[in-house]
Amino acid sequence: MLIAITRPVSPSINRCELTFHDKEPIDISKAAAQHAAYEACLRALGVRVVSLAVEPDLPDAVFVEDAAVVVDEAAVIPVMGAPSRRPETDGIAAALAEYRSLKFLESPATLDGGDVMRIGRRLFVGASSRTNAVGIDQLRAALAPFRYEVNAVEISRCLHLKSGCSYVGRNSILVNREWVDVKQFAGFELIDVPAEEPGAANALLIESVIERAVEDVVEGVVEDVVDDVVIVPSAFPRTIAMLEARGFAVRPIDVSELQKAEGGVTCKSIIFNADEPDS
Ligand code: GLY
Repeated sequence: MLIAITRPVSPSINRCELTFHDKEPIDISKAAAQHAAYEACLRALGVRVVSLAVEPDLPDAVFVEDAAVVVDEAAVIPVMGAPSRRPETDGIAAALAEYRSLKFLESPATLDGGDVMRIGRRLFVGASSRTNAVGIDQLRAALAPFRYEVNAVEISRCLHLKSGCSYVGRNSILVNREWVDVKQFAGFELIDVPAEEPGAANALLIESVIERAVEDVVEGVVEDVVDDVVIVPSAFPRTIAMLEARGFAVRPIDVSELQKAEGGVTCKSIIFNADEPDS
């Protein structure tokens, strides 16, 4: 089954890191409600949500994606690029240890999981202000025994690689080419975000590998969907319409408060395939 690790919005989120966004007040109640709706959306799609304890003193802790890189055989725990965020990895490592063997990157490596776009056995890693060349090399070495290919991607004017591109299934990458150098993406279909919506390339693919229990569908606990679903912020109607016109099943979701914290829809979960841990 698909598992999503999440963490509640921290009450200190107004002290979050900001790199390309100006500071705007974040309504914590509204952010928490939007995060709950995001988790409900995942559950409705058949994903088992594992919500960790709140981290009141770690403003960016809701953005769990940055604290790990999970592949089928292992979970890699990075040294996060922002020093304020480094304590976030402790709780994430403890949670992931239930499902995967752990590998740890070491200083001077820095890497944020939001810089890693995995497509099958290929990992594209953004050379961002958070992820350095040593981090990319150490990730490559950590995953070499499992035969993953790791390629660096140049990015500019955005926080993470996945601020500017996401794999949306069907061999397609949704991308803002103003922010991401696409030369590593030969062989994939590139879908450009509309110019009016430069931030819309962060989309979350939920693949239809989910085995939905028939009784859960009958009782309405999960939806009877068979297609892959792409979760896209409702702030990007042109992108949603474009993807739907191309035949993608899109689920719009309001994440406006966490967008003020430079977050998107991928950042708020770590999603991977696993059996239930042994109790
Ligand atoms: N506020 C999200 C980050 O800077 O990592």
